[in-house]
Amino acid sequence: MDDELKLLGGAMTTLALAAAALVVVPHMQLSDGTPPPGLKPYTSAQLRGREVYIANGCIYCHSQQPRDKAQAPDDQRGWGRASVANDYFYDRPHLLGTMRTGPDLFNIGVRQPSADWHLGHLYQPRAYVGASIMPSYPFLFELKDKPDPGDRVVTMPEGYNPAGKVVVAKQEALDLVAYMQGLDHSYPAIETKNTKRERP
Ligand code: HEC
Repeated sequence: MDDELKLLGGAMTTLALAAAALVVVPHMQLSDGTPPPGLKPYTSAQLRGREVYIANGCIYCHSQQPRDKAQAPDDQRGWGRASVANDYFYDRPHLLGTMRTGPDLFNIGVRQPSADWHLGHLYQPRAYVGASIMPSYPFLFELKDKPDPGDRVVTMPEGYNPAGKVVVAKQEALDLVAYMQGLDHSYPAIETKNTKRERP
């Protein structure tokens, strides 16, 4: 019985230490965050687009956390400066991601502002990047014989428009693209007591 109590005590202490180091201390450090002046809150279309991003598993292939120069050449890849905690002020849940099968998207709105490009790329990535392994998302679009008034028709590159049809973006595709276009964290990082780093 004595051994079991020691085992239990040891396990509880380990758990408490881990919770303190990984949850309590970071929470205390970051909970006083303020939004950087350059960061815009999401519009309602962008918030809906975020849900589409989550529902379609974009996070399985795309990160949203450019890293520091010391860790990876992300700025040379055109993905932007290293992100800091306040950049995620409006993000619930955050969509940091862990995989980079595709490029980091934290600044895709700066790199690729064109809605036409985004819509066409979602309909068929291979129309833009020949060897792309990104899945196509045809179910975010409708194929019609002719557009109805108010329809957002997608202009596909030569040879990629289905014969005799027009590709019309559904609301989900439009919202997702509004979210992509809004991903802009190109303003300077705000320095707080937690983001200041000693540099040689
Ligand atoms: C299976 C992995 C995978 C998934 C899932 C995926 N992508 Fe991609 N994505 C890629 C790859 C690889 C590329 C680079 C080739 C290309 O541009 O098609 C890419 C490129 C992109 C680009 C262009 C990035 C740039 O820097 O030019 C955007 C925007 C994008 N993806 C958005 C999305 C969205 C939105 C979703 C979810 C609806 C998604 N991706 C799902 C793999 C993926």
